[in-house]
Parts: sequence; C-alpha cells; structure tokens
Amino acid sequence: MSEAPASGRGARGAAGSASAGAVAVDVGDLPLGGGALAVLRPALALLAPGGVLSVRSTSSGFSEDFASWCRAERHDDLGAETGPDGATTHRVARGADGVARGPREDGMRLPRRDGALLAADVLAAVPFPARADPGSGFAPRGAQVEPGGPAYPVDLVERDRVAPPETARLYDQAVAAQWDAARDVPWDRVGALPPALERAVGQTMTFLAENELSALWVPAKFLPRVHPAYAEVAMLLGITLADEARHIDVFLKRARAGGGGLGVSHVTTSRSLLSLLEQEDFTEAMFLLSVLGEGTFLDLLRYVETHAPDEATAVLVARARADETRHVHFGLAHVRHALAHDSTLYGRLEAAVRRRAATMGDAGVPPAVQDALTVLAARGTEPRAVARGHEAFRALLHEMHENRMKRLVHAGFTPEQAQTLSDLHTPNFM
Ligand SMILES: [Fe+2]
Ligand SMILES: [Fe+2]
Repeated sequence: MSEAPASGRGARGAAGSASAGAVAVDVGDLPLGGGALAVLRPALALLAPGGVLSVRSTSSGFSEDFASWCRAERHDDLGAETGPDGATTHRVARGADGVARGPREDGMRLPRRDGALLAADVLAAVPFPARADPGSGFAPRGAQVEPGGPAYPVDLVERDRVAPPETARLYDQAVAAQWDAARDVPWDRVGALPPALERAVGQTMTFLAENELSALWVPAKFLPRVHPAYAEVAMLLGITLADEARHIDVFLKRARAGGGGLGVSHVTTSRSLLSLLEQEDFTEAMFLLSVLGEGTFLDLLRYVETHAPDEATAVLVARARADETRHVHFGLAHVRHALAHDSTLYGRLEAAVRRRAATMGDAGVPPAVQDALTVLAARGTEPRAVARGHEAFRALLHEMHENRMKRLVHAGFTPEQAQTLSDLHTPNFM
C-alpha cells in the first residue's frame, strides 16, 4: 500500500517507488535547505514514530545533507537507492522526538446550515475535553500539541466546572443579537417628563448602571482563568462583557438625556457588589451573579419596561433584558451542570450566600431605589397614583422571590434549598 499525502513539485507528483507501508514524497531538484524540507517534514509529521517515508530527489548535494539532517533530528536513515533515471530514493523512519500529541483533523468538514457555520456545530465536531492540560497553552482545541510547552496560569481546567454543553449555542445567539447603543434606541423619543418623574428615571438608571458595572468587572476576572480548550466559554464571556458595556452605556445615557441626571449610589449597593467582586470560585460567582443576581435583575428590568414613561426607556430596557436572559441561561446551565457533577456544591453555594448575607446586616432595598421605583410606577407624585406605585413595588419584591424560586428549582435545587437561598439573597437585588 502506498499513500502519497504530499508531493514535491506539483507537476512531478508523488514518487511511485515507495516500499510497502511507506509514504512517499518527491522533492525533485530542491536542495534540502532550499525547499525540500517544507515537503518532507510535514509528510514525516503524519507518521507515527517508526513509520517510514520515501524521499525521491534528483539534487546532487541532497544525500549528504539529508543524512546529517536525519542524525540531527534523530530520525533513522534507512539508506538510499539510485535508480536508472539517476534519481535517488532515500528511506527514513520517523524518530520519537517532538511527536505532537493527538490525532490530526484531516478530512474534517463542518456542516453548513443555510450557508451559516455555527459555533455549536464546531463544538459538536470537536467536543470539550473532560480535563485540559495547562501545558497545551493557547493551542486551539483540536490542534496537535508538541510536548514540552510551558504550563499556563489557568486553573479552570475541568469541563464540568467551566463549560456546560449549551455554551456554543448561547455564543451563537449572543453574536447574532448584538445591537448599537447609539442608534438602536429611539433617543429622540425621550419624553418631556415632570421633574420628579425624570429624577426617578435618573435614580433608577443610576442603580441599574451601578449593578451593570459589577456585571462587567466580575466575569472579566474569571475570563483569563479559563483554559483555552474551553475557548467558547471565554468567547461567550467576551460577548457578555460587550453586552454589559452597552447596558452601562444606555442606562447612563438615559439618565442624562432627559434632564434628571444621575442619582445616589447607596452603601447597601456598594457592599453587595463588593461581595460579588470578591468571589474567587467561578461556579460560586456565576451562581451569585448570574442565577441569583441577573435572574432577579430580569424582574426589575421587566418592571422598569412595564412602567417606562417614554418609548426610549422602554426600548433600551427591553433590549438589555433580552441580553440578560442569555446571561441568566448561561449561569443556569453552568450551575445545573456543576450540580450534577459535584455533590458538595450545594453546601458551598449555600455557604457563599450566607457569607454574603452576613456582610449585608439588616439592610433593605436602598431607599432612593425604593422611592424611584415607586414614583416610576406611579408615573409621578399624585398621591393616589403613588399608592398604586407603592403596591406595584411590593408586588415586584414578591415576584422576584417567586421567580428566583422557579429559577433555582430549574437549576437543580430542591424546593427547600431554593427557599433558603432565595430568602438569603441580597436586598440590593444583584
Ligand atoms: Fe447587563
Ligand atoms: Fe448580565
């Protein structure tokens, strides 16, 4: 059997003189250092150690150079024969040095769907490894890796702790759903509102932006710790960071577009967000930020959207909420997957929520936020409307708790565990 995966010079094609089991290349009259290596080295790399390559050459100085190259590279020079046409065929067995790990991806053809090529299809073809080797560095998953590379400072090296199977699908959705904070919000539809209502909008947007800042900083901290074999996780986090940047951008723009300006940042919020930023465990951070925090934030955004006093506010909040829904999905997928693979995880998550609750003392929802959300739902300060706004705000707190419970059960917690975790959740919402 003669394979010819590489030919020396197109017109000549592969030599046909290889012995059984060998791979053959024809380097024509190329000198070894003048191009022949570019043909024979990749052909040799296809072979396992001990595999034999035939190299046909018509170059006069080739034999001597080839013999010394084989010695230097620790390949086994098996000798040469010169044929009646004057060409010399060398046979060389591949040595064991520098053999890259893993199979080659020869022949891989990714499926296309209506002309599109999805990250989810790449992941299906090249699945996440159960464990990743820090010595493979930034080698893309699926590349052959030469041994002996330096260990990289990454510690998220286990699939079940970092890379749920939904990752690539969520990445595809995130890429397709990007929008422009400058042009995709009808900024000319910011209403001319009574000052008290506009100030309530400014305060609400200040609070939203402050929480969004934490949602940018917290995942950013974990991104460089993800092993590159789980690149889709880092890519999804990268898009998530772009989402959060856009949310900060639109919320601050809305606060300043209608005359209200920014409001107050409360200590309760600051304490709550610091306790998020101080998380060192990726799963605990994803749970606190994305399942409990951003999950609760979804209800808050829906509330602001429902009571939005103008079209610009309604649109920007709806767009942010669509992005947040993906962030919550990833958090849920991560936690559900990790819970299924680690029986000690619930205890750790409950302890993390308790530690966080202890730093909050008996703080409630920040006062300026309560007032702003009440006035927002009242659409002003007319007393009977404010009574309705007050009821709407109380209903929001109830709804947040109910939906947190549902999300937690969906993530794999028992109803009792869900109740405990939801009751301990920060009064800052995020
Ligand atoms: Fe956000
Ligand atoms: Fe988010």
